Amino acid sequence: MNNQTTVISQDKLDAQLAYCNKINDLWRSRGITPTAYVETYGCQQNEADSEKLRGILCESGYAITDTAENADVVVMNTCAIREHAEQRVFGNLGALTHTKRRHPGQKIFLCGCMAGQTVVTDRIKKSYPHVDGVFSTHHLWQFAEILYRVLTAGKRVFYIEDEPGSIAEGLPQMRDHTLKAWVSIMYGCNNFCTYCIVPYVRGRERSRKSGDILAECRQLIENGTREITLLGQNVNSYGKDLDEGVDFADLLLKIAEIPGDFLIRFMTSHPRDASQKLFDAMASSPKIAKQLHLPFQSGSSRVLKAMNRHYDREVYLQKVNYAKSVMPDLVLTSDVIVGFPGETEEEFEETISLIQQVRYDSLFTFIFSPRPGTPAAKMEDLTPKEEKNRRFDKLCAVQNTISEEIHSGYIGKTFRCLIDGTDKDFLTARTEGGRLVRLQGDKALIGTFQPVTITGSTTWSLTGTLNKE
Ligand code: SAH
Ligand code: SF4
Ligand code: F3S
Repeated sequence: MNNQTTVISQDKLDAQLAYCNKINDLWRSRGITPTAYVETYGCQQNEADSEKLRGILCESGYAITDTAENADVVVMNTCAIREHAEQRVFGNLGALTHTKRRHPGQKIFLCGCMAGQTVVTDRIKKSYPHVDGVFSTHHLWQFAEILYRVLTAGKRVFYIEDEPGSIAEGLPQMRDHTLKAWVSIMYGCNNFCTYCIVPYVRGRERSRKSGDILAECRQLIENGTREITLLGQNVNSYGKDLDEGVDFADLLLKIAEIPGDFLIRFMTSHPRDASQKLFDAMASSPKIAKQLHLPFQSGSSRVLKAMNRHYDREVYLQKVNYAKSVMPDLVLTSDVIVGFPGETEEEFEETISLIQQVRYDSLFTFIFSPRPGTPAAKMEDLTPKEEKNRRFDKLCAVQNTISEEIHSGYIGKTFRCLIDGTDKDFLTARTEGGRLVRLQGDKALIGTFQPVTITGSTTWSLTGTLNKE
């Protein structure tokens, strides 16, 4: 227990709300309803942050639009996980010079994980003069103040000081969906996997108080949310920085006790901290989805050590086997990196054999991307790009076959699914394991759980029919 988590005081949050009111007044005096566009890159954590950015914008009088064209404010909420993600942002940021030329009053902001890196902010300062404000994830709660300063001071504003990170409760939030909600239970990461930028741009691990999380979940469920996804870079270390004596398994069970018809999902679990207690808790409650995203990253124990993952192939497999033994219908997904510096052909084959052994429903596959400032970026990397591409293609082909086989095995089975929307003439639904199903039916069923029998499958999705009871 280190009890170092800093919670932003109510006074400071009230001061931010006062900035929202001042921004409102600015626009009202001009008789204009301003518009804002928020573009999100990266993971669910960023999706959840964008809901807060939109909430602050709404509180400040902005109407949210779905394009940068003509918007009075454009916010790019960025991701730094791989070089490709950053290149996309720089490309799209460059294109905003044109929207700003057509609408000179436009104010452009860059935030999110890229804004936590000095190399990025230096480049923005030098080469992207049309960007008006930059703020790192640690300063998101001050967005109203940043926006107000940009609108009134007429100069560029940078809130990029590095810090361990804090927790701001009660920020305005504009949720994207009513049926499904993200709930961040913790922020940051302490793991320092050698390839990963996240601990540098999101600060140290810090958990929200369980009471705050429960109150948020209770309210969501009362308002009709049917699926809650708990978010954190490593949810299994939830609570270690608090003195509540509540770990992640305890938290899951407390949320499951809230009355109502809903399902709890969570991501991401770090295999090192995934315990039997967690798997037993999952197995014990019908409200906790039997779905586990458990990134293994590599099937080679030597590579895992070089990645600083703190588990080896055997330990990983033992955990997966235990989880499957207590949850026979468990849907397992994972992340994997190919071409980590020094990965040999044999070590890559160990990754292939691991996926053949575990048989994931689906995988997120990545080619190693060196991130400046991380230890792996300095490791000798002699494997040619073409060879990495070959390994990547082989990995995807093996996984696609497995996904297809697992999916075709679903045919004829009946699953309880949440009907969550429409796609052209079809209803869309998710199985408890999170697999997408298309089916025909009445739109009035959206928001309800229904038994669905699977009738067809592809690598990525399923088709089904409503099972009339
Ligand atoms: N906290 C999560 C992962 C978040 S990042 C966890 O530890 O499981 C999502 C995924 O991106 C990682 O699991 C990893 O597979 C991939 N990733 C992270 N850094 C990367 C890099 N430098 N190059 C390629 N893939 C990377
Ligand atoms: Fe990155 Fe590792 Fe933390 Fe995941 S656990 S965010 S991969 S450092
Ligand atoms: Fe990207 Fe930041 Fe998420 S780097 S993957 S948006 S935590």
